[in-house]
Amino acid sequence: MKSSVLVTKRIFQQAIDYLKQHAEVEYVETDDGLPAEELMRRIQGKQGIVSQLTDKFTPPVLEKLPDLRVISNVAVGFDNVDLPAATKRKIFVTNTPDVLTDTTADFAFALLMAGARRVVEGHEFVHSGKWNKWSIDLLLGQDVHHSTLGIFGLGRIGRAMARRGRGFSMRVLYHDPVRAPENVERELGAELVSAERLLRESDFVSLHVPLSAETRHLIGAAQLALMKKTAILVNSSRGPVVDEAALAAALEQDVIAGAALDVFEQEPKVHPTLLKLANVVVAPHIASASVATRLKMCMMASENVVAGLEGRRPPNLLNAELWTA
Ligand code: DGY
Repeated sequence: MKSSVLVTKRIFQQAIDYLKQHAEVEYVETDDGLPAEELMRRIQGKQGIVSQLTDKFTPPVLEKLPDLRVISNVAVGFDNVDLPAATKRKIFVTNTPDVLTDTTADFAFALLMAGARRVVEGHEFVHSGKWNKWSIDLLLGQDVHHSTLGIFGLGRIGRAMARRGRGFSMRVLYHDPVRAPENVERELGAELVSAERLLRESDFVSLHVPLSAETRHLIGAAQLALMKKTAILVNSSRGPVVDEAALAAALEQDVIAGAALDVFEQEPKVHPTLLKLANVVVAPHIASASVATRLKMCMMASENVVAGLEGRRPPNLLNAELWTA
């Protein structure tokens, strides 16, 4: 008998077609996300779920799902799933790493460039009809080339960001609880420094850490105060890594020069002050959103859930300790 899978939100049709070849599929074909109770009702009796970062799997939710064997998140981040609780209940949890690394780093660098060179302000200036002459100091920005890039989290995406920085002749500093292997540091020309030093010396601070209890509000008022007045903060990781209210206050008081953000504490809500400031570039959590990458993520998530349900090791299993075969 085929296993049954719930897909909680719209994904690419090719992935649905693949799933249907292997399982009974209940497909919630909207972008709205199910309210918690409705999600709960629909998962009952399902062995697999293809979830997105807006679906929350807390211990009380997991306790009520005795049939569930695989949670396959269509994202590299999995802070929406309580991994230890899922492991305790012997539920495989999978994500979609690697396929989005370069795409996400491209976007993080685009944010950095947009903030540094005031691309969005320039666009709006022209659109609003205010551009009526060439002037020597119109929309002056910061140089990216030969500046210092500080990276929090030298994982896959952090490293890809460092490579982009090297391409722009930037000096690369990083902070990470785990030191990168020597050959990686050498390849990236990246120097491990304390968080304080990174904040003090960087012209651009880019965040690439997963969200966890340790990284929640990693950047708050105290950290922003250490940054250069001319520095720009780039966040393409998770919103709660930054204390958004503290950031808004710091930007209003010119503690730092700008921010370029793809993620927010309470998406899709954005702190109102951030939307008023010209020196803040905002995007709607689209760092991995290229046509090719989002398709790969959907296919990968579908393959993960099918593998788990068919008794094969899911290729991107996060709780590897559950795999004993
Ligand atoms: C992820 O994969 O974690 C992103 O935030 C969504 O692509």
